[in-house]
Amino acid sequence: MRVSTTAAAGLAIILLASCSPKIQQEKPRLPLPKDVHSYANPEQAVVSHLDLSLRVDFERKVLNGSVIHSVTGKGPLVLDTKDLTIFKTETSVDGQVYRPIEFKLGASDKILGAPLEIPLPEGSKFVRVSYETSPTAVALQWLTPEQTAGKSAPYLYTQGQPIYTRSWIPLQDSPAIRVTFKAKIQTQPNFFVVMGAPNDQRTAAPTGDYSFDMNQSIPPYLISMAVGEIQFRLIGGRTGVYTEKLMLDAANKEFVDLNSMVQAAEQLFGSYRWDRYDVLILPPSFPIGGMENPRLTFATPTILTGDKSLVSLISHELAHSWSGNLVTNATWSDFWLNEGITTYVERRIQEVLFGRQRSEMEFAVEIAELNQEMATLPAKDQLLHIDLKGRDPEEGVTLVPYVKGALLIRAIEDAVGRDRFDLFLRAYFDKFAFQSITTEGFENFVKEKFPDLKLDLKEWIYKPGIPASAPKISSYLLSEVDVELEKWKKGQAIRVIEWVPQQWLHFLRALPDNITLDQMASLDKQYRLTKTGNSEILDAWLILSIRHKYAPAQPRLEEFLQTVGRQKFIKPLYEELAKTPDGKARAKALFAKNKAAYHPIAASSIEALLAK
Ligand code: BES
Ligand code: ZN
Repeated sequence: MRVSTTAAAGLAIILLASCSPKIQQEKPRLPLPKDVHSYANPEQAVVSHLDLSLRVDFERKVLNGSVIHSVTGKGPLVLDTKDLTIFKTETSVDGQVYRPIEFKLGASDKILGAPLEIPLPEGSKFVRVSYETSPTAVALQWLTPEQTAGKSAPYLYTQGQPIYTRSWIPLQDSPAIRVTFKAKIQTQPNFFVVMGAPNDQRTAAPTGDYSFDMNQSIPPYLISMAVGEIQFRLIGGRTGVYTEKLMLDAANKEFVDLNSMVQAAEQLFGSYRWDRYDVLILPPSFPIGGMENPRLTFATPTILTGDKSLVSLISHELAHSWSGNLVTNATWSDFWLNEGITTYVERRIQEVLFGRQRSEMEFAVEIAELNQEMATLPAKDQLLHIDLKGRDPEEGVTLVPYVKGALLIRAIEDAVGRDRFDLFLRAYFDKFAFQSITTEGFENFVKEKFPDLKLDLKEWIYKPGIPASAPKISSYLLSEVDVELEKWKKGQAIRVIEWVPQQWLHFLRALPDNITLDQMASLDKQYRLTKTGNSEILDAWLILSIRHKYAPAQPRLEEFLQTVGRQKFIKPLYEELAKTPDGKARAKALFAKNKAAYHPIAASSIEALLAK
C-alpha cells in the first residue's frame, strides 16, 4: 500500500493547490509510509485542516460537538475513532451548504478502535462529523475537584500520544498526516481553556468561551487541551507557566531558566518555530512526566522540587520542538527518531545551561537504567526500528528508543566531530521541517551528509543490544559516589556533602541486596530519605523499602500511590509489591482504592500487571 514517489508528488501538487495561504506546507510531502496503527487511506482522501467545535460537559464527562475536515481526494474518507458516538456525517463542496451522507462505522479493534468510512460525493471538500466522546475515552482524564491542587473545581486534560487522539476527535490519526486546526471550545464561565496553539486569552479572566487557531501543521497526537481553574504567569521573553493558583509560585521558581533554555536550544539547532514556549503543570495524576504538545509542554508536578534538579525533563520536552514536533516520526516504529534525537538534544541543552559534568552524569544514569531494562527485554524489542504490527504502540515505549537512540546519535557526533555534527542536525531540522520522516529517510540523510561514516548504522538500528563500539559515558560525579559506596559497605563513614539528586539516585540503586533494616533506618535518619521532596529519590527509596519491608516508609508509600499518577513511578512500585504473595494482595487492595484517581492509561497498564 506504500504510495509511490510519483503518486506522492501528484498528491503534493493537489495539496498545495488547495492550501489556504496560512498553511505552512510549502514543501512537497514525503511519500506516506504504511502506518499499521491507523485505518486512514491517504492515497484516496487526505485531510489537511480541522475545524473543531466542542462543548465540555463536566457533569456527563463528555465532549460534544463536531469537527469539519478539509479533504483532498476522491474518497472514501476513512477516519480513526475510538469509543465515539457518531451522530451524523455531512459533506460540502463550498463549506457553506452541508448535505447528510450515510457513514459506515466498522467493528472496533481493541487497540486501534473503529474505522469510520464516509463516501465523498463528487467535488466534496469538507466533511462534518457530529459526535460525542465516551466518559471513559482513553485520551481524556476527567478529574474531580479533590484530585486537583485547589480542590474546588473539576479539571480535564487530553493525552494524545501515541494513538489516543481518535478517542476525542474522529480523524486520520497517523503521525505522517499533519493538520492545521481551528477550535471553538465552550465550558462553564469560570473555567479556563488552553490548547497547544496560539492563545490570545492567556492573561484574560476566564470566560468559558475560547477559540484557537493553530496555523502550523502538526501530527494528530500533538493536538492537546486542558480545562480547569488554570492561571498563567509570564516567566520572561517567550516563556511562561500555566497551572492552578496554588502551584504558580513553585512552578515559576523552578522554571526561571526557561527563556535561556529556549535561547540555548535555538543557538544550537536553529530558530524556535513555535512562537511561544509555555509549560502547563498538571495535577499529580498526570500519567507521564512530560508531553511535548507544541507551544505548551504538559508536565507532571513531581518535577517541582525547589532545586531545579529535575528540569532536564523540560529540556527534553523543549527539544521536541525540533525533533518530534518539527520533524516527526512517520510511524510508531520510527518513534526512536523522536525520542533518541530528543534525548541527545536534551543533553546538549543541559550542557549549555548546567555544564558538561551534569549533562554527562545525567546521561550515565540513563544508560545504567537502559542496561537494566535491556536485560529484561526480548531481542525483538531491543531494536531501534521495532516491528509493532498487531501490537499496541505503547509496547515500543521503553528506554531503547530514548537512550539507545541517543547513544547512536552521540556515536555519530563522536565519529564526525561536534562542528560537523551540529551542521548536520541543523540541516536535518531545516530540510524535514513540518514533515514526517521514516527511519530509512534518516539513514539516507546520514549517508548523504557523511558518505564516509565508519559506523554500522544497520547494526545500531536493526540488531538487538548495544554495539560494542558504543560511546562509553563516564561521570566522575558518579565515580565519587562509587567510592563512598565502597566505604559504606565496609561500615565506614561516608561523605555526601552537596550530592546532587542524581548522585543519590545512583547510590540508592547500587545499595547491596543484603542491606539490613538497621542500615536502612540509619540512612533514613541521617538523610531523611522517607521525607525527601525529590520524587525520583523517593521512588528509588520506596522501591528499597518495599523490597526490604522497611516499615517506617510504608505510610509515605501509600500516600504517594494515592496522590501521584505518574506511571514511571507508580508502575515499578506496584511491580515490586507484586513480587511476594502478601505484597501482591496489598498491591491489589491499594490499587482498588486508588484506581479511580489514576489516568485510564495508567490504570489499565497497572491492572494488566497485577492480573499476571
Ligand atoms: N513524548 C514523550 C511522552 C510519551 C511517549 C507519551 C510515548 C506517550 C507515548 C515525552 O517526551 C517523554 O519522553 N516524557 C518522559 C520524560 C522524558 C524526560 C524522558 C516521561 O514522561 O517520563
Ligand atoms: Zn520525549
